[in-house]
Amino acid sequence: MSDQRVTVTDETSGKSLELPIIKGTDGEPCLQIKALPSTLGYFTYDPGYTATASCTSKITFIDGGKGILRYRGYPIEQLAENSSFLEVAYLLLEGELPTADEFKDFQQDITYHTMIHERLKSFIGGFHYDAHPMAMMAGVVGSLAAFYHDKMDMENPEHRMLAAKRMIAKMPTIAAACYRHHMGWPTAYPNNSLNYTENFLDMMFSVPTEEYKVSKVAAKAFDLLFILHADHEQNASTSTVRLVGSTGANPYASVAAGISALWGPAHGGANEAVLTMLDEIGDVSRVGKFIDRAKDKNDPFRLMGFGHRVYKNFDPRATLIRKAAYEVLEELGTTDPLLELAMELERIALQDDYFISKKLYPNVDFYSGIIYKALGIPTSMFTVMFAIARTVGWVSQWLEQEEVGTPIGRPRQVYAGAPERDYIPVQSR
Ligand code: CMC
Repeated sequence: MSDQRVTVTDETSGKSLELPIIKGTDGEPCLQIKALPSTLGYFTYDPGYTATASCTSKITFIDGGKGILRYRGYPIEQLAENSSFLEVAYLLLEGELPTADEFKDFQQDITYHTMIHERLKSFIGGFHYDAHPMAMMAGVVGSLAAFYHDKMDMENPEHRMLAAKRMIAKMPTIAAACYRHHMGWPTAYPNNSLNYTENFLDMMFSVPTEEYKVSKVAAKAFDLLFILHADHEQNASTSTVRLVGSTGANPYASVAAGISALWGPAHGGANEAVLTMLDEIGDVSRVGKFIDRAKDKNDPFRLMGFGHRVYKNFDPRATLIRKAAYEVLEELGTTDPLLELAMELERIALQDDYFISKKLYPNVDFYSGIIYKALGIPTSMFTVMFAIARTVGWVSQWLEQEEVGTPIGRPRQVYAGAPERDYIPVQSR
């Protein structure tokens, strides 16, 4: 809180109120409006929370104008270049980079919890083979509460950290099991001699009949993608996790709600939607037609993978992923006509007045799907990849909220329905 104030005056009543200014370490200052309803009798109206900070957080910083993303103060570019997903997970959870010994212990902790309860498999087996994996993930992760709920003391920081580590550890195992259920393959057990991303790929693609060797290129690419998706401050799914958590619900239930929020095409579901859109465009010659559709006010079509609520110049994650997409395709020695199509779409959109004036640039999801596709991940699993990585952010934000002790989240509304009226018996209507 700073000493500066902003005075708000209600010209009708003549009453004034001094609103304190909250200044963080970085970023725009905020007005503390808590006293508005009791002093001036007003609530504030901000659908979509475009102008509202819902919490104070020390985890992730974004400057949308400058294209800055930092985890715990470290620029995303440096973490992408030098760190690993598990080290980033430690950083987000604990606030500092680990020493070598701390990291060894952390790796062991995560490895220790990679297995899932055998009974959970029958839960997965209950789904139809073509169930969307995000629907399965939400159900199965939510059901973890039933396996650990009784033993969890929400007031105990060690219990909370254990739940957080369990989810980070089990998410790849659950994701791979959902995929294998769809394929009709037996569930694979984790192999704790492999690192986090290698283990995930092994559980996804190994079959009992043949030796499977995890591709180093694939594991490295996944590690990068997971780092870039690990947290993104108060986005829709993280805010969902915080809101559900604020009721005192257990963390598995809160993260299951986050998975559901992530699924929407305006959020994490965009990576799947980008591929569906590129498939629909089909050929470079049809790009112009789809750009025109995106600009048409009467057409609900949007260019998936373009635009961001916060980034208004460029998405720093997209810059890193774009480079990685080229590298992965080159290392794998494959070409993908969809990449060519994506580049043409990007080229035309970036020169178009509509996209320039509205500050619509390719976001993280525009390129991630191209890498996932090259690495053999089916389109319906793309958002699941996002969920595995974002689990780290969700649990870090949940832990922070629990430590601070935030009150239950409860927005207000502007009621625009019927005024009070009397009930009319059915025979008189
Ligand atoms: N294609 C065409 N027009 C667009 C697009 C788009 N992708 N995105 C926004 N616009 C237009 C929109 O029609 C509106 O025009 P007008 O002012 O004339 O009404 C204007 O730009 C502002 O749009 P908005 O919906 O008010 O902006 P927002 O900040 O609320 O939405 C967004 C951000 C990401 C939901 C939106 O840009 C979008 O739907 N993009 C496509 C989906 C997508 O790629 N989502 C992934 C986001 S990044 C991953 C993540 O963090 O989850």
